[in-house]
Amino acid sequence: MNYRHAYHAGNAVDCMKHALLVVLLRALTRKEKPLFVLDTHAGIGIYDLAGPEAGRTREWEGGIGKLRTVAPTALADYLGLIPPGLAYPGSPAIARALLRPGDRLALCELHPEDAAVLKRRFRGDPMVQVHARDGYEAVTALLPPPERRALVLIDPPFERPDEFAALATSLDAGRRKFPSGIFAAWYPVKHRTPVRDFAADMTARGIPDIIVCEMLLRPALDPARLNGCGLLVINPPYGFEAAAAPVLEALRAVLGEADASVAITRLARENGV
Ligand SMILES: C[S@@+](CC[C@H](N)C(=O)[O-])C[C@H]1O[C@@H](n2cnc3c(N)ncnc32)[C@H](O)[C@@H]1O
Repeated sequence: MNYRHAYHAGNAVDCMKHALLVVLLRALTRKEKPLFVLDTHAGIGIYDLAGPEAGRTREWEGGIGKLRTVAPTALADYLGLIPPGLAYPGSPAIARALLRPGDRLALCELHPEDAAVLKRRFRGDPMVQVHARDGYEAVTALLPPPERRALVLIDPPFERPDEFAALATSLDAGRRKFPSGIFAAWYPVKHRTPVRDFAADMTARGIPDIIVCEMLLRPALDPARLNGCGLLVINPPYGFEAAAAPVLEALRAVLGEADASVAITRLARENGV
């Protein structure tokens, strides 16, 4: 396990994931019923942008650094959750900020050092459980939740060559265990072929009601570069596509190159393909 998110926190593709996570959580916390959030690949929760890792790559300057300067209206909700200064919240901190009393957050992190940091951060918080365990395995182990309402965020590091396949298998297994769950899976776009294969794999599994949000910072022509990212959502909450569209457009306008693009595509209809 070589991947450490501290090098990448707050970069353009991290901001896209977090801005859409906010859209999802806002939609899901509108109903009064308690919500369970499972973050399968949680990281350390909050990142020091002044630290040595972020300082080495300076990736955040092309992400949250730019967004903060321009502050587009469509991103006000997400940006409102980012404190001024150089502490950037990861998905656990963003989710925790939006949960209500009675909601619950489970965080899985496999890297022992990162899991220890995460445990310290949320120690004493009765709404948060931290598990030092494999997040893919947790998808089936922790579902269905007693709340019967859940958002599952799967945000792997894409270190393994078979990560897209593992992601598809996990989404399929999770959805079988809990068909009404909302599943959001983040993936990088380097070149189109693995992304197309992933979409074809998901379609072939016959899972209904899937939409895909994508942001390309530039056309995906050079596979050696991280050209963009996607968030695949199964069972998107009502109104998600309409709320996500201006958010994606604002991200593109601020973070993308001249030929950047965003798209929201329906991969499977609500009642099946
Ligand atoms: C992209 S980072 C997560 C970032 C975090 N979701 C956020 O948005 O702030 C991926 C994390 O998954 C961890 N990881 C890798 N394999 C894992 C596994 N099988 N189960 C749980 N965590 C894993 C890595 O150590 C890393 O911290």
